[in-house]
Amino acid sequence: MKRNVRILSGIQPTGILHIGNYFGMMRPAIALQDEGEALYFIADYHALTSLRDPLALRENSRRVALDFLACGLNPDKAALFRQSDVPQVTELAWILSTVTPVSRLELAHSYKDKIARGATAAAGLFTYPVLMAADILIYDSDIVPVGKDQKQHLEIARDIATRINETFGSMREGQVLNLPEARIQAQTEVVPGIDGQKMSKSYGNTIDIFGDEKEMRKRVMSIVTDSTPVEAPKDPDTSTIVQLYALVASKEEVEEMREQFRKGGCGYGDFKKQLFEKLWDYFAPMRKRRDEILRHQDYIESVLAQGAGRANSIADGVMKRVRKAVGL
Ligand code: ADP
Ligand code: TRP
Repeated sequence: MKRNVRILSGIQPTGILHIGNYFGMMRPAIALQDEGEALYFIADYHALTSLRDPLALRENSRRVALDFLACGLNPDKAALFRQSDVPQVTELAWILSTVTPVSRLELAHSYKDKIARGATAAAGLFTYPVLMAADILIYDSDIVPVGKDQKQHLEIARDIATRINETFGSMREGQVLNLPEARIQAQTEVVPGIDGQKMSKSYGNTIDIFGDEKEMRKRVMSIVTDSTPVEAPKDPDTSTIVQLYALVASKEEVEEMREQFRKGGCGYGDFKKQLFEKLWDYFAPMRKRRDEILRHQDYIESVLAQGAGRANSIADGVMKRVRKAVGL
């Protein structure tokens, strides 16, 4: 019998979550919790490749769980857990690494980018995609909602699964590992940051989901614009303000702003104010839920424990199959 579609994604607890994380990954992931069996985890093993502050790692992990719940993750529908509560993934990562060509990992953009930005070329950073493949494959995942920047990692995961299946699969027992598919939202492929580049924790260009009002306003007001004077027409197609507005405003509202851009007579400052108001209102229900959760701190730990239980039971089953297939 075909089981439910299994949906899986992870997010690194390397900092404070921003609206790029929300629109690129969290919102689609939360929407998918109604379409199958969802498993979402906090990628703390992965975070170790860049974060070496144990207190910060622990605190960020708790905060990611809190923010995910505040944004609408329903623990009755989706399991939420820490990656490190399923240590079997490191065993699977080892097995996968034995069939992964170094040349495949050398082509990974994310590794090359991190090195170009000054990261030390640690072995763990290099094999990051192998651990990520293990995260995905250990739950027989079918669909993996992620932002566009993770597309290549998904391709690597599929490639590794195929190699395992070709090497160890058998006519009688069938495939060892299930082939996952990336689910990338076209309209929010890349959410721009306040400098117009991809919004990212590591670029210092974020608008945080749960910053306070003053902070969010300040970030929105510092969106980089050109020096077109107030009265002159402006190009809505290249504007970060319009792109971000489109994430939170209705179609008509976006069209109205675009029209005002083209007409001229309105300065960037006014458009930024409109954007701020919309953004602030958009996240109001989530802020409310977050305050409620904060009043019941034990709730977060109990959700994570329950999620880890579910994740472990699936992972144990898959590992049994893998160990048998490879001869351990
Ligand atoms: P960051 O680049 O801020 O460190 P992560 O790499 O931890 O973010 O990304 C977590 C998830 O959020 C991934 O699925 C990623 O694709 C998505 N994501 C991050 N930034 C953006 C963005 N600017 N636009 C769309 N999705 C994003
Ligand atoms: N690499 C992902 C990121 O930086 C996080 C991640 C780790 C992940 N393991 C995963 C995402 C498995 C999806 C599936 O965003």
